[in-house]
Amino acid sequence: MGFNLTDVISISDFSRGDIDFILAEAARMEKMPRSKKKCLLDGKVVASLFYEPSTRTRLSFETAIQSLGGTVIGFADAKVSSAKKGESLSDSIVTVSGYADLIVIRHSIEGSARRAAEVSKSPIINGGDGANQHPTQTLLDLYTIKKQFGKIDGIKIGLLGDLKYGRTVHSLMYALAHFKGIKVYLIAPESLKMPQNIVDEVGNKLEIKETGKVKEFLPELDVLYATRIQKERFVDEFEYEQIKNVYILGKSILKHTKKGFKIMHPLPRVNEIKPELDKTDAALYFEQARNGVPVREAILNTLKDVKKE
Ligand code: CP
Repeated sequence: MGFNLTDVISISDFSRGDIDFILAEAARMEKMPRSKKKCLLDGKVVASLFYEPSTRTRLSFETAIQSLGGTVIGFADAKVSSAKKGESLSDSIVTVSGYADLIVIRHSIEGSARRAAEVSKSPIINGGDGANQHPTQTLLDLYTIKKQFGKIDGIKIGLLGDLKYGRTVHSLMYALAHFKGIKVYLIAPESLKMPQNIVDEVGNKLEIKETGKVKEFLPELDVLYATRIQKERFVDEFEYEQIKNVYILGKSILKHTKKGFKIMHPLPRVNEIKPELDKTDAALYFEQARNGVPVREAILNTLKDVKKE
């Protein structure tokens, strides 16, 4: 088992072997004593370039970098970078790849991470590019499912909410297609359905059912993966206001779910999961966020010595 990528741009670039390698490495990182871990990125500089807001992705990457003994440079707000003066993304990346051994980037433009990887001498890790992909979130989602259920094969998972603009669910669909016997229930209003090209691409590998109603398949689910309605991607704010509270999960849903049922969410949430669910056995979302650290440690450690042409 090995890892065959020089950058982490899209989960579609991952083979099953690449996914299994990162999940196994994340489990190893989680068990490794701090004293042993803290030398793994010794002398390495990692740039954290966040052109879009983030709490979990940026801070869990920065936690991972520091726990492995690396140094972080970067910014959490594009307004303090030379992008504000009109510098192109390519020029910024070429420059930063002269300073840093690895680059983590989040950007609002779809394809920006791919473009960065084309010009960078250092490996690029995509921390989310517009509504396109969020591959490291997907790896931590898979890690969370595997830790919770002991396997990913055979999982019955509902994806709920903004399946049109939600990059986490796009990446997750491609990743789940590598596993056996997966049933995916796409639960979204008509205007926020999963893009048809994604359904078509993975439709022969996953059993997919679509509905607009949360309750329709609830008793069948092992996991309900809820997502936020992505306000920042709407062109028309009125349209967002009309649909923003389309799904609000409360404790009452647990009357219809099976034993061991879990709720996941990439977070941040707005109104889609009521806090009354937080203390129930179903709530897995904060543990999911914590799992971001070992998974990102695994990614950084795996890419640290990659040499790009
Ligand atoms: N899940 C996720 O990407 O969260 P942040 O936007 O806070 O990084």
